[in-house]
Amino acid sequence: MKKFLSVAWRAARLAGGLIRENWQQAKEVHYKSTINLVTATDRQAEEKIVDLLLKNFPDHSILAEEQTAIVAPESDYRWIIDPLDGTTNFAHSYPQFAVSIALEHEGQIVLGVVYDPLREEGFSAIKGEGALLNDKPISTSKIAEIDKALLATGFPYDHRENVDFYLKFFRAFAKRSQGIRRAGAAALDLCYLACGRLDGFWELKLHPWDTAAGTLIVREAGGTVTDFSGKPFSISGEETLASNGLIHAEMLEALKEARNVD
Ligand code: IPD
Ligand code: CA
Ligand code: CA
Repeated sequence: MKKFLSVAWRAARLAGGLIRENWQQAKEVHYKSTINLVTATDRQAEEKIVDLLLKNFPDHSILAEEQTAIVAPESDYRWIIDPLDGTTNFAHSYPQFAVSIALEHEGQIVLGVVYDPLREEGFSAIKGEGALLNDKPISTSKIAEIDKALLATGFPYDHRENVDFYLKFFRAFAKRSQGIRRAGAAALDLCYLACGRLDGFWELKLHPWDTAAGTLIVREAGGTVTDFSGKPFSISGEETLASNGLIHAEMLEALKEARNVD
């Protein structure tokens, strides 16, 4: 695992360096759909990560957001990469984005790295070994009621079409919590939960590259991750509910009530 972790860090820093150089420059923006953007930096960052991983682990599979899907049937390892989580922020020079790299072994996430290149904060976890922020152990908060909790969420790229549905959940938590942040980089939201800056997080329709590293980091920091009904979380599922564990039951209750509102 140590070799995997050190290569993952090198890749995250390489991509992070490029993102840091470009974040205040004019952007070359392309549209994947109406409001789902991709910039030249997303693609270049992905290329740097994939090249380094393949140089070190030529027989591993790779799933990366922008263009890379390499299936190596003889390998039990798959890297899951978001080269730039928070692209809309990046495109607007809004300083909240990160690189996310996870390693899956036989279907289980065993390693995760999330790197914020502007704050130079590196979150990481190896399964069974706890979670770190810049080499120091981190843990989730001790807040035990939603009434005292700071939550975070995000909205999928179809929010124009489905805004009323997504706002049901937002309304339910706005009525119960101290506040809700919508910062625009799900991988960082999960890491902020892992280190106690947030107490809970929910979002619909995230992709494996958004959640693979962050959810391992949350769990290794002592938090809980499920779907909106309390069933096991899957990186390929549609629902992500993550919390410090202590407010999880209350969050599940709020989600259940929200679903039944017309
Ligand atoms: C997005 C961000 C955002 C979340 C979206 C994601 P991207 O990832 O994580 O916070 O609300 O659902 O798709 O497209 O910037 O990599
Ligand atoms: Ca993302
Ligand atoms: Ca991305």
